[in-house]
Amino acid sequence: MEMAEFVINGGRKLKGEIKIMGAKNSALKILPASLLFSTPVKIKNIPLIEDVFRMRDLLTDIGASVKEIGERSLEVRFGREIGSNLKKDIAERFRASIVLAGPVLARTGRVSFPFPGGCVIGKRPIDIFLDGWKKMGATVRESGSGFDIAAKRLSGKDFTFKNISVTGTETLMLSAVLAHGKTILRNAALEPEIPSLAEFLNKSGAKIKGAGTSTIEIIGTGGKLLKARRAFEVIPDRIETGDFLILGAIIGDNIKVTDCNPEHLTTLIAMLESLGVKIKMGKNWVSVSRPKILSSSDIKTKEYPGFVTDLQAPYTVLMTQAHGESIIFETVFDGRLNYIDDLNRMGAKITPLDTHRVLVHGPTSLRGREIESPDLRAGLAFVMAALIAKGESIVKNIYQIDRGYEKIEERLQKIGADIKRI
Ligand code: EPZ
Repeated sequence: MEMAEFVINGGRKLKGEIKIMGAKNSALKILPASLLFSTPVKIKNIPLIEDVFRMRDLLTDIGASVKEIGERSLEVRFGREIGSNLKKDIAERFRASIVLAGPVLARTGRVSFPFPGGCVIGKRPIDIFLDGWKKMGATVRESGSGFDIAAKRLSGKDFTFKNISVTGTETLMLSAVLAHGKTILRNAALEPEIPSLAEFLNKSGAKIKGAGTSTIEIIGTGGKLLKARRAFEVIPDRIETGDFLILGAIIGDNIKVTDCNPEHLTTLIAMLESLGVKIKMGKNWVSVSRPKILSSSDIKTKEYPGFVTDLQAPYTVLMTQAHGESIIFETVFDGRLNYIDDLNRMGAKITPLDTHRVLVHGPTSLRGREIESPDLRAGLAFVMAALIAKGESIVKNIYQIDRGYEKIEERLQKIGADIKRI
């Protein structure tokens, strides 16, 4: 494992343009979807990040040939020989590996994979996935180290998610595309990566209706593979966009975030405006500056289009600079507030209220410290905290940050940040 860390000297104002990469959580779904095709699938605007490299490794390991066809563009091709075992030491490093299980099962009739993990919050239950596959006719065997799933034939069924799950929705949607008969997914997730994926599959011969709403209907092809007629373009990363908007609201002196889709961030933008942050935007850019006085506001994380959980930690850092108190309420995940002790060591005043809520007293001035990333989003929040803190900070375990952010230090340097990878 790499032992690199970031050394950050805080306090500089940030200014200039920062470009958004393709969405991690879109790239991680289209790569597995390439298994549903008889033709090669071309994918553009792929972010060069660790989770994508790991997904590529998994695909290659089960028989894909993956070719670079340009900067951030790949062509993925599967032949006849397709493996059904997701390699343990790769798959257990990131939770999204489970998305690949759906297409592998649909295409080969079986799949084996380890308990997916990745980071503290990645080790979550996968009962919803298993329920869905069982309903479609698969048998599920749990072994000591993972799962073996088999289905001679997947049948379309009417399935209701007992909890909303983003990857659950995508994985069952991918499983259903080649199934026999009609699948209805109810209480489905609405995240923009889902309609984007469905639209591409539909252009390639799939029959999916309602992606982007809470009821998705899929008429299975009965085993007939899809044919890609054009390249898939990964949509802009809305989380990265939100991170930079929040950073701009903290220490921006006109930061322009480009190559993004502001329509995917209307909730965050409305929230920032209510705090006094001035925002300008066009079709694919947003600019933001720190206001004279930043007010505080409570948030409650929700599924899309609510306040996204992946921006909860950065928002907490923002609130350490706001005037007044705010309550941060994490409703989507357990254990996603575990970074507050480190922010407090930097000088923040954050008090836990219960396992899902903290109270932030602002504003506070932060001091540089040595901190370790627990997961990628909290890791980036630490980078933000270090950028506003007085003095030097060292952020460790930056593999977690590299999982989701392409060369973050170089992009931050361009807008004036003093950050080095050592
Ligand atoms: C997706 O995770 C994203 N990951 C996450 O991004 C994001 O935070 C999350 O959606 C919410 O928006 C990818 O797209 C690869 P869930 P996902 O299944 O789909 C519970 C990031 O930082 N649950 O919607 O895995 C679960 O414990 C990441 O980029 C079950 O109980 O999240 C959680 O509390 C992190 N059983 C809730 O549902 C299950 O079988 C929502 O999780 C599945 C989930």
